[in-house]
Amino acid sequence: ISLKPFNTFGIDAKAKFFVSVESIDCLKQVLSLQDYPDKLILGGGSNMLLTKDFDGLVIHINLKGIDLLLENEDFVFVKAHAGENWHDFVLWCIDNDFGGVENLSLIPGNVGTAPIQNIGAYGVELKDTFESCEAISLKTNILQSFTKTDCNFGYRNSIFKQYAKGQFIITSVVFKLTKRNHKLNINYGTIASQLEFMQITNATIQDISKAVIAIRESKLPNPKEIGNSGSFFKNPVISKTHFNKLTKNFKDIPSYPVSDNDVKVPAGWLIEKAGFKGKRFGDYGVHKNQALVLVNYGNAKGSDILKLSKLIQKTIQRLFGISIEAEVNIL
Ligand code: EPU
Repeated sequence: ISLKPFNTFGIDAKAKFFVSVESIDCLKQVLSLQDYPDKLILGGGSNMLLTKDFDGLVIHINLKGIDLLLENEDFVFVKAHAGENWHDFVLWCIDNDFGGVENLSLIPGNVGTAPIQNIGAYGVELKDTFESCEAISLKTNILQSFTKTDCNFGYRNSIFKQYAKGQFIITSVVFKLTKRNHKLNINYGTIASQLEFMQITNATIQDISKAVIAIRESKLPNPKEIGNSGSFFKNPVISKTHFNKLTKNFKDIPSYPVSDNDVKVPAGWLIEKAGFKGKRFGDYGVHKNQALVLVNYGNAKGSDILKLSKLIQKTIQRLFGISIEAEVNIL
């Protein structure tokens, strides 16, 4: 079976066996199948690059539903199941006037994969509203609960990328959202100017969501039209000493403070400076509006995109002495 419809890069890799599971019982049964030792777990397929066919069983997590758990006057706890599309979940929150995830509008992928890399955009990260999640252990087939502390969230990071990597399948996530006195985040980059452009003064969470959607649509390719996985690389953290040296040759290099000694540099800027922005090599290339995004214009192979990513990494290393790490999982 072709996995093309199941990964946002639109790579036509094949799986020998495939199952889409709609209940936890079904998932447990599938996991206990002894004949298929090689299993690949697939959520929204928005953060992976398939570089070859998969000779095992692909398990597509299709657990659906959003449940209100409990609420008081100020907060609501909402449980969303792993197979819910992330943006549809955000829109559901916006429609109910539940605040906290509006800045994360239009991020591709599903609810169940969002905690793995602690998705983030426009000054907000998943961890800010995350309360807990449930996940099945691939070793024991038992459902376990993880608190926010358990998850050890960091920038594009969590235990599910660290020691628990590949050992759990997240089945649902509980969020703590505001019902009133929403804490609005409009200080990041272009949100304030976008709101001004939209002639909005007293912004609501609905307005912020609209502004974020407008910004993302203007910069980021829609995976339904051009295959991509969002940011292909993480923004690198470098020492201030290194940064100060770079400013001698590159006066306009941007940075964000991280700690007393370190700064984060936008990888998109480095890639653009290295001349890759908008470059097209046949069916694949670097997006014209955001250099951090690699794209598949049609029938690119995963291995082509991997090759391009390595060339970019090597060039950035040579020009700036910075090593940039892929954010996308490479399979
Ligand atoms: N920049 C360039 N050229 C480019 C792209 C960026 O010069 O082609 C520079 C500009 O100086 C710009 C700065 O980079 O001001 C920051 O750009 P942007 O606001 O687009 O953010 P980013 O750092 O490139 C990160 C996330 C995005 C998220 C945006 C907005 C990572 C790896 N990426 O990108 O996340 O949407 O911030 O918050 O942290 C994703 O993870 O898939 C993703 C799209």
